[in-house]
Amino acid sequence: MTQTPWLGFSIDRAADTPVFEQICAAIRLRAASGQLALGRKLPPTRVFATELGVSRSTIVTAYEQLVAEGYLSSQQGSGYRLCASGEVELTSQPTPQRTKARKGAAEPTTQTRQSRGAAKGTAEGQGVTPFRAGTPDMRLFPYRQWAKTVARICRSDPQAMFTGARGFGSLALRQSICDHVAEWRGISAEPAQVIVTAGATDALELCLHALAQRGDSVALENPGYKPLQHFITAQGLIPHHLQVDENGAVLPDGSASPRLAILTPSHQFPLGGAMSPARRMEFLRWATKSEAWIIEDDYDSEFRYAGRPIPAMAGFDHLQRTLYVGSFSKIFSNALRLGYLILPEPLTEHFTVSICRFAPRASSMPQQPLAEFIQSGEFYRHLRRVRRIYAERRRFLLEQLAQEFGAYGYCVDHQAGMQVVFHLTCGLQDAEICSRASELGLSVEALSGFVQSPDLTDGLYNGLVLGFCGYSEVELRQGLGLLGRVLEQIRA
Ligand SMILES: Cc1ncc(COP(=O)(O)O)c(C=O)c1O
Repeated sequence: MTQTPWLGFSIDRAADTPVFEQICAAIRLRAASGQLALGRKLPPTRVFATELGVSRSTIVTAYEQLVAEGYLSSQQGSGYRLCASGEVELTSQPTPQRTKARKGAAEPTTQTRQSRGAAKGTAEGQGVTPFRAGTPDMRLFPYRQWAKTVARICRSDPQAMFTGARGFGSLALRQSICDHVAEWRGISAEPAQVIVTAGATDALELCLHALAQRGDSVALENPGYKPLQHFITAQGLIPHHLQVDENGAVLPDGSASPRLAILTPSHQFPLGGAMSPARRMEFLRWATKSEAWIIEDDYDSEFRYAGRPIPAMAGFDHLQRTLYVGSFSKIFSNALRLGYLILPEPLTEHFTVSICRFAPRASSMPQQPLAEFIQSGEFYRHLRRVRRIYAERRRFLLEQLAQEFGAYGYCVDHQAGMQVVFHLTCGLQDAEICSRASELGLSVEALSGFVQSPDLTDGLYNGLVLGFCGYSEVELRQGLGLLGRVLEQIRA
């Protein structure tokens, strides 16, 4: 153990928990208990590193993780300060926090390549259509390793390819999912609580079928994921739109008593940003009091580019009122169509009946290979690789937008996700830009198109949703060239 004078701080080098995580946990705890006052400055990284006898980068990693979780704010030259207390309920789980939004330019890219051939002709002519959101780059798919895994199973245990078509899915995959969410999302669940689905969308639809009845009200974020509105109304349910502020979705007002609230707490879709810990607590209290269910849609949680992923709400809640939805579409491929739903234990029986009526659509064949991919570590090798590449692409895009498009608007950097939102400040309308951009072969979505109930938001959302994962820097540069042309033409 190493003791330091700062708030009686100590680290345990013999512990399994990495030192930076111990530092994070200690700061979270002191913030929640009030020992560390709001606004209080943390020791400078160099000083704290010397006190603890650790490297400065360990302290920087810990501070940056807490910035990402919303506990600390950082300003160049003035160090790190506590900006959120983490509320009163103390648990052994780290308290999830609001992602600090950083406005303006991103860090310089490490790999800025020159445009070859620049913006002539359409991007579509080259088989890519920047800036489709939520699309992974299939050129990075680990085809060889995947083929080896499938071939091995086909040779040694072909029957395994057909398990998982019924019920909750392949047991091997459900066990791997439990290991994955325990490690990455702080969720402790048994395979009996996991249903393998055909992606996150399928899981959301299943929840609506199982937990709501015709005429029930369902709360959903506004702006939010477009297909949800359709599923809700198609099932005769009544959508109750939740506004989104700087702390995430706002609680349902008294005008409705929703049975369910579907939320994206780790990374609001499409705006980005994480729900603040205080707001999470309010939602959990609301759900407990009104006997409602929260459905946490965490479809892109693995794509956090600073520090570790922000803990899931379901982990914090210990799966009491929260159902957790995850997806493999974004790590692997939208075409794989595999995702999962993790249930509170008391709901497992109810869902056993529901999936008999609403048959799950997950294909059985990829389930065993995916389970082995996760267990063998290939999955994490792929994840680390794409995350590094997407981080570079994201930085590149943010840098270009700040440098070349500053006259039109700005981005808020949430250090996460598969798309950025470019908020327009120049008086141009997002829908017009997107329709003109599509004529040039670009796939840009208007932020206003994600608004479900425009009367509630009063033109607040006017921007471009720009996906970056599926495109190399050269392709992004070409896409930006075309987008720039569109903006200039409309402004002229
Ligand atoms: C908020 C949100 N949830 C779910 C999904 C869909 O995930 P899946 O492809 O696994 O159905 C998306 C897709 O982009 C999304 O934006």
